[in-house]
Formats: sequence, structure tokens, C-alpha cells
Amino acid sequence: MVLVSGSGTNLQALLDAAADPAYGADVVAVGADRDGIEGLVRAERAGIPTFVHRVKDFADRAAWDARLTASVSSYTPDLVVSAGFMKLVGERFLAAYAGRFLNTHPALSPSFPGMHGPAEALEYGVKVTGCTLFVVDAGVDTGPIVAQQAVPVLQDDSVESLHERIKQTERLMLVDAVGRIAREGFRVEGRVVRFGALG
Ligand code: GAR
Repeated sequence: MVLVSGSGTNLQALLDAAADPAYGADVVAVGADRDGIEGLVRAERAGIPTFVHRVKDFADRAAWDARLTASVSSYTPDLVVSAGFMKLVGERFLAAYAGRFLNTHPALSPSFPGMHGPAEALEYGVKVTGCTLFVVDAGVDTGPIVAQQAVPVLQDDSVESLHERIKQTERLMLVDAVGRIAREGFRVEGRVVRFGALG
């Protein structure tokens, strides 16, 4: 199950990988917090069921979170991947998917958490940034790290060029890690994540 808010290129990478049965994972559904996004078009093109729950259509954030949790649960996913989903989920969702909800972030955690990873890396002047796949906890981009890849910052980078280069690496990282999780399992010990179901 994949949650999106935008162009959905990470989703597309997972859809492309899942076309091979040997990959080990299927995308059972795609959820979004807004209409009219390329991510939903990608899902529909692949014949994957979709749903949209906009926060503004609910009485409050908790009601939105409850509906999101119910919709996701109706597909009984083993794993939920937030791939450019620009919302923090609530307590109910976190409780239902604790340890099974992953998010991909365009920075090297713990640096530059939040919505503006590439812009903040550029502004800070780091020479290396990257992407992080992590198990979501109650913090903002603070959960145990599943995978990370470094990406150089080039002298003439704009926010857009840097983010685009990060995303090229991010898609490979995501496809590799989700495939390994599907085929081998994973476990979280404190802050440390290891692939493989056994010790
Ligand atoms: C990705 O770079 C993802 O890490 C980022 O949005 C992009 C989505 O691209 N997410 C965040 O910044 C969340 N804090 P995509 O829609 O093309 O997959």
C-alpha cells in the first residue's frame, strides 16, 4: 500500500518493480490526501485501486486519521509506504501500523527533517545530502533508519536540480529496500533496523 501527494515517481518505481513476480511485493492500493495528482493517474494506469481523503473534508484531524486508517486497513496491507505523502498521520494510524509504516525522505536523517529537505541542505551549504527510508514513529522524520543513500550537492544546484538528483537515487533505494523487506523480512531493534526475519 502506497500513500502519495504529488508526482508519484517513487510510486511508479515500485509499480515497475512489482511487475516482476520475483520482486516479491505488490502494490495493493494507493491512497492520497488530494485530487488531481500524477500519483493517482499512475496508480489508475496500472489498474491499482485508489482513494482520496482530504483533511478539509473532515470535522477534524482525528476524524481524517480514522478514515485514512480504515481505508488503508480495508486492503489489509503488510506494509504501508509513504512516498511523498505530505501529511503527518495521527495516533490511530500510527498505532495500527506501528513498525509497518515506512516513509521516504529527501535528506540524510537526522539532518533536515520536515517538508523542505533539499532546500535546507542547499541553504546550509552541505556538500553531501541524500535520502532516507525510515520506520515512521511519532516524531517528524525521526524513526529508525531502514536505508540511506548519499547524493553530492553540486556547486550550481538549485533546489529543483538537487531534489531531482536525490529522487533518482531515492527511487533505487526504495525499490531495493521494499523488495528486500518483502523477500527477507526486517526487524527493528532499538534504533537499528536489519533485513532478515531471523537474527
Ligand atoms: C520525494 O523526494 C520524497 O522523499 C519527498 O517528496 C518527494 C516525492 O516525489 N517527501 C518529503 O519531502 C516528505 N517530507 P514523488 O511524488 O515523485 O515520488
